[in-house]
Amino acid sequence: MHLIRRNRILRQSPAIRAMVAETILRPADFIAPLFITEGSGVREEISSMQGYYRMSIDNTLNEVKELWGLGIKSVLLFIKCKDELKDNKGTEALNPNGLMQRSIRAIKSACPGMIVMTDVALDPFSIYGHDGIVEDNEIVNDPTVEVLAQMSVSHAQAGADIVAPSDMMDGRILAIREALEQNNMTRTGIMAYSAKYASCFYGPFRDALDSAPGFGDKKTYQMDYANRREAIKETLMDVEEGADIVMVKPAMAYLDIIREVRDSVDVPVSAYHVSGEYAMIKAAVKMGWLDENKAIIESLSSIKRAGADLIATYYAKDAAKLING
Ligand code: PBG
Repeated sequence: MHLIRRNRILRQSPAIRAMVAETILRPADFIAPLFITEGSGVREEISSMQGYYRMSIDNTLNEVKELWGLGIKSVLLFIKCKDELKDNKGTEALNPNGLMQRSIRAIKSACPGMIVMTDVALDPFSIYGHDGIVEDNEIVNDPTVEVLAQMSVSHAQAGADIVAPSDMMDGRILAIREALEQNNMTRTGIMAYSAKYASCFYGPFRDALDSAPGFGDKKTYQMDYANRREAIKETLMDVEEGADIVMVKPAMAYLDIIREVRDSVDVPVSAYHVSGEYAMIKAAVKMGWLDENKAIIESLSSIKRAGADLIATYYAKDAAKLING
């Protein structure tokens, strides 16, 4: 054979492959989600997310310092609210001394450089486990948006760098931006969960926070996985309303959406490699069917290659360690 083009030339050694690699993961690409619970010295494994823990604030601070040492620049906070503090309106979400607000202050003082992102949605605080206020078995939009805006201001006042509304109510990005402006919080960013699908892959997360919906499902606010154009519409609207970063969620079953969003907006795009995606790898590894380290790097590389600038993942720490060598 006399071939003019031999594609294997650029694959023949680790050095040449490293030279021409198009996608390179960095620890700064990762957002590490953290589950925080009351108490001290608490470190409870989440049964459906093996190797991942709910921690009290003291243990969380050590975790944050370790993540920072590995080159990770952001954490995304979720709190497990006590049952007795839950109601229909998310009252506890606005408590200036609530677990979220105390966690933000503690992390910003222990590790000031770390970008603290906070989940903004009512589900952990809701007796119904829904992301919004319930009236007559419906999740009502506009009253929910008012609470989300106040919640965002409360997080910002506690020191959050970026608020991350994950609820999918209409008009919440504009309402949050206006509320931040009215309260002179002009340095707080908004990472909008813009294309968040109603997905079965959130199952293990709902175990972690005990936040499974008490009735029905989330299909009247989260998106239908049949739809792609709608993701672009949602994302463009969030950018117009003032989102600094937009997100696609989940990640691996939605790589086409990540690419299309990346090509449609001029803000950073994040993707959330969710609890069920983590749990699938963990389960296969436990069965001896997958090499975990290889599965982590291949999965996260594919999400970045699809167009994600940032990846929220429960594998942030493992991946950073693998990258750092
Ligand atoms: C709730 C929220 C969910 C996740 C992040 N924020 C669950 C849901 O929408 O039911 C899922 C994260 C994961 O599965 O890793 N507002």
